[in-house]
Amino acid sequence: MPPSQPLPVRVLDWFAVHRRDLPWRRTYDPYQVWISEIMLQQTRMERVVFYFSRWLARFPDIASLAAADEDEVLSLWEGLGYYSRARNLHRAARLLAGAGGTVPDCHDSLRKLPGIGPYTAAAIMSIAFNRDYPVVDANVERLFSRLFDIATPVKENLAFIRQQAAAMLPAGRSRDFNQALMELGALVCLPKKPRCGSCPVVHACAAHQHQTVHERPVAVAGRKSILIEMACGILVRDNRILIQKRQADDVWANLWEFPGGRLQEGETPEQAVVREFEEETGLAIAGLKKITAVRHSYMHYRVTLHGFFCQAPEGEPALHAAQENRWVRFEELDDFAFPAGHRKLIKFLQESGFGS
Ligand code: ADE
Repeated sequence: MPPSQPLPVRVLDWFAVHRRDLPWRRTYDPYQVWISEIMLQQTRMERVVFYFSRWLARFPDIASLAAADEDEVLSLWEGLGYYSRARNLHRAARLLAGAGGTVPDCHDSLRKLPGIGPYTAAAIMSIAFNRDYPVVDANVERLFSRLFDIATPVKENLAFIRQQAAAMLPAGRSRDFNQALMELGALVCLPKKPRCGSCPVVHACAAHQHQTVHERPVAVAGRKSILIEMACGILVRDNRILIQKRQADDVWANLWEFPGGRLQEGETPEQAVVREFEEETGLAIAGLKKITAVRHSYMHYRVTLHGFFCQAPEGEPALHAAQENRWVRFEELDDFAFPAGHRKLIKFLQESGFGS
């Protein structure tokens, strides 16, 4: 392609050839675009493709999502993390189902829905409705930090980057152009090993000219993540395991868990699980057997969860910290939505042959 072609044309031509065949790109159904945008917020593309297809098979439209039980919605979301996204989708579907049952073709109306911020509203306006809104995700930020050789952290330059993205946007081509920029960031302008030899805009890239590609975007000292230690007890009676459903207004709201909680200062995991179990259920557990410790990272936290088998005297558990509890068979644990650490513990047990 001659370098004289304007940058948007080069980007669009590149996208026409290199775009990935993603399920939500087949029809651009606004509901599907909305679901995909929410799933993509904190999750890698390959993972989203699997979850998206499964979700669509169960909730093909707003009406079916609105009619679903929250437990089922959370259960289908398990593995994507950050459950508030699923709760907000569900709440928004209920609001929309009562108001015509379609995704609004209006930025302001989208913004009013739970879980939709300015970025997602712009992405839906552009990708679903082909309206002229710029969309700047982390891929586009990186691409522009190189294109303009931005020597200060990206977060200090967002207004400039958005201005440039808006100025470049070819009228009437927003859907393809925005996705092309994101795709270029995801496939070519890679964080560590950018493939400048395959880039359709390398001739216009200031960082390439100045040989600063590897120094862009400028790194900022990250916020240190907070370490949290937790312990939980798996109480088995008559081949059934005790699980409880967390309160609706708590972290991990409405998810299921094994009773337990955070270690207090100076406590061992064993001491913590005995104390927490008692506080939450009224049962004094004993006979602890360590299963393993699993780790899971969230945006700002790194959690270590110590899992124990335990025993308890006769008597039903109380609901001091949960809204509901159940005794379930090991195989049934897959039917409930658990926080990621608990799920890792269950996986560990499944892989060690427990229950078989
Ligand atoms: N990130 C968010 N939405 C996207 C899309 N439609 N294509 C590529 N990357 C994306």
